[in-house]
Amino acid sequence: MKRLQDKVAVITGGGSGIGAATAALFAQEGARVMVVGRNEEKLRKTVQAINQEHVSYTVADVSQVEDTQRYLREAVERHGGLDILVSNAGIQGEFRPISDIPVESFDSVMAINVRGTWLAIKYAFPELQKRGGGSIILTSSAGGLGGMGISSPYVTSKHAVVGLARAAAIDGAPHRIRVNAVCPGPVDNDMMTNVERTLGAGNEAAIREWVAGRVPLKRFASNEEVARLNLFLASDDSSYCTGGAYPVDGGWSSSLP
Ligand SMILES: NC(=O)c1ccc[n+]([C@@H]2O[C@H](COP(=O)([O-])OP(=O)(O)OC[C@H]3O[C@@H](n4cnc5c(N)ncnc54)[C@H](OP(=O)(O)O)[C@@H]3O)[C@@H](O)[C@H]2O)c1
Repeated sequence: MKRLQDKVAVITGGGSGIGAATAALFAQEGARVMVVGRNEEKLRKTVQAINQEHVSYTVADVSQVEDTQRYLREAVERHGGLDILVSNAGIQGEFRPISDIPVESFDSVMAINVRGTWLAIKYAFPELQKRGGGSIILTSSAGGLGGMGISSPYVTSKHAVVGLARAAAIDGAPHRIRVNAVCPGPVDNDMMTNVERTLGAGNEAAIREWVAGRVPLKRFASNEEVARLNLFLASDDSSYCTGGAYPVDGGWSSSLP
């Protein structure tokens, strides 16, 4: 028996990286999956690569109320309900000391990473209740468990995501809705490539080596290593886990100063 047989899962940020790997793994485990993002081309590629019936996409901006209501409604209409939400869409924001970051830049990180996550939970709850419960997984970060310099909007937003998992887990418990956060360290994908380019244009390899050197396991995670934690939290294997914040970071958060 597959671990997510006939479950319906919505995955935001599913056009790339962790979200795309999670969509592929969930589909392999029998789930009906809808991926959500702003870039249609990326979403189409994710769906084509999985190449399975009952895997689809919709274009939406997770920071918008109407878009959130619509993508959840579309999932329910296409698949008859909702069992799993992976609220994973996120942006990095600017790398600068706090005094040099424009207010608008802080606001845009909070709008996507925090408001978008809160909206997804708010509007997913009634649908999960109709199914007698379900699992919500929020992508936070190792930066949601400890401080990092020149990343104040991102670190603030990812701490808020951990808080949201804890608060929503308590609201969800009477309805058998579990809510957990995953906290990846550096992952080998587009987001980290952009970070390397931003922090050290022309010197990306040195930046990468420096970041990997701070991880006790001395390497980045793959998208699939994070997806496997998402699968555990989505499935009944984690039936007694709620309100948790789970590092998948090669030991990074346990070694933060
Ligand atoms: N990569 C890392 O090292 C790392 C480490 C810790 C945590 N994380 C977190 O992991 C999550 C997934 O990121 P990733 O690593 O897989 O990098 P990624 O490839 O950049 O994925 C981020 C995804 O979020 C989507 N997104 C951004 N803003 C959106 C919006 N307003 N509405 C809808 N979708 C939006 C993007 O899709 P569109 O371009 O289509 O909008 C993209 O597919 C993020 O929350 C990130 O903060 C990443």
